[in-house]
Amino acid sequence: MHHIAIFASGTGSNALKIMEYFAQNDRIRVALVVSNKPDAGVLEIARTHQIPTHIVGRKSFYETEELLGVLEQHQVDFIALAGFLWLIPPYLVQAYPRKMVNIHPALLPKYGGKGMFGKHVHEAVKAAGEQETGITIHYVNEHYDEGDIVFQATCSVKQDDTPDTIAHHVQKLEHRYFPEIIERILSNSA
Ligand code: GRF
Repeated sequence: MHHIAIFASGTGSNALKIMEYFAQNDRIRVALVVSNKPDAGVLEIARTHQIPTHIVGRKSFYETEELLGVLEQHQVDFIALAGFLWLIPPYLVQAYPRKMVNIHPALLPKYGGKGMFGKHVHEAVKAAGEQETGITIHYVNEHYDEGDIVFQATCSVKQDDTPDTIAHHVQKLEHRYFPEIIERILSNSA
């Protein structure tokens, strides 16, 4: 049995899709939701799905390794970052080598890095006049948005698209592919 932890800072629409996708799976389950924000929407979603939650503070996250104990307690062997806005510290990257993925709402290596999240990404895509954008699912290393790419999917950007409509198209791709790719990675591992 694989036990996934979802790390998220916001609404949690991707987290919800992952929870729903694996709800009936007897090999993979979402065991924990971790957030840095006590009022994040994702925590409510987790509670509704009877999934344990853990709120992590900045000091504990960066200056201790307490979180490893929490993950161990929930037998977590895979981490999905779904809109988690803090940089992952080295101890955590090392504890989950190629066992932690992030989803990014653009085609990396373009439009990634610090500060490139949410609407900032889609505004930059629009401003650059891109005709295509999409999603990237990648392994996590110590730098924002730089780990090896596992999967990308694209959608077109039309002239009359706005950052909001781009966000909508990209979110559809995220919801469609993120759970599936997690399943694929876990099926190819032990
Ligand atoms: C998604 O766009 C994801 O790509 C990004 O953060 C957003 C999270 O949205 N990393 P949600 O909280 O899952 O709705």
